[in-house]
Amino acid sequence: PMPVLLDCDPGHDDAIAILLALGSPHIDLLGITTTFGNCRVEKATYNAQRILALADRPDVPVATGAAAPLAGEIHIGDFIHGATGIDGTDLPEPLAAPVSLGAVEFLRTSLLAAPDPVTVVATGPITNIARLLRDNPEVGPKIAEIVFMGGSTERGNTTPAAEFNAYADPEALDIVLTSGLPIRMVGLNLSHQALATPDVVARMRAMENPVGRACADLMGFFGGTYSDVFDFAAPPVHDPCTIAALIDPGLITWQKSFVAAETEGRWTRGATVVDLHERLDEPPNAQVALTLDVEGYWDLVLDALDRVGS
Ligand code: BDR
Ligand code: CA
Repeated sequence: PMPVLLDCDPGHDDAIAILLALGSPHIDLLGITTTFGNCRVEKATYNAQRILALADRPDVPVATGAAAPLAGEIHIGDFIHGATGIDGTDLPEPLAAPVSLGAVEFLRTSLLAAPDPVTVVATGPITNIARLLRDNPEVGPKIAEIVFMGGSTERGNTTPAAEFNAYADPEALDIVLTSGLPIRMVGLNLSHQALATPDVVARMRAMENPVGRACADLMGFFGGTYSDVFDFAAPPVHDPCTIAALIDPGLITWQKSFVAAETEGRWTRGATVVDLHERLDEPPNAQVALTLDVEGYWDLVLDALDRVGS
């Protein structure tokens, strides 16, 4: 299986990303690092541990990371995810303590100790990964690729221009995008195709196991805020698209492109500039996700959730 480190801010969709990674025989989840984002970082760590308890996988180490972005104000996504960061269900209490290392140190030692290059997935503000690359360039050769959920080829969801993860730490995203490492970007333009429709939620509940029930409850809450805030008929389940891309890259079509994070715009801070039509004279630095095989995606996700739950 492919060794993976997952940096996240659970978060309803982050939770499903964790469960998808745990439920896939193609992935060896080496550890989880947490960041501020959907909630404060302490809550993100607690939520990650509760998801691991739900999956009965307390063996997966969890390390706490950034409490705030590299620069600027802290933004928290509680307007979508509720006060706990993962409102809508009762999760079991953690079965293990977080590791004593901070996220960056945990990532560094895990990467340097790994026999083969590791895939790094980020589904929250990308602060931890930026710090890792900025302060420890020796880890570069140990990273197979960085796959992140953030930005968009189109418009934002937090400001008109900016997607939440990119908006929460544009300087960090800039560091990652200019690192020269292989990068795949899963933006809103892709994740807005991954809707948890009533049929999907019914399939979760029909699993009749604690994982399926918890996911259905989570999608209920997530769907409520997406309907109130964005008038969406069903919530987009962004973050697991990154893990699905690792398990079956053919589920997604990709285009090589130059991608930049706007750090300065008066109205556009945190926007991603994706040069799909090669208008800028810049070499491509990322593979950008464009279209999703929606049916294949849900079959993959639901199959993994069922495996974790039973
Ligand atoms: C991203 O922001 C968070 O709300 C989600 O967990 C996802 O990572 C979508 O913009
Ligand atoms: Ca997230």
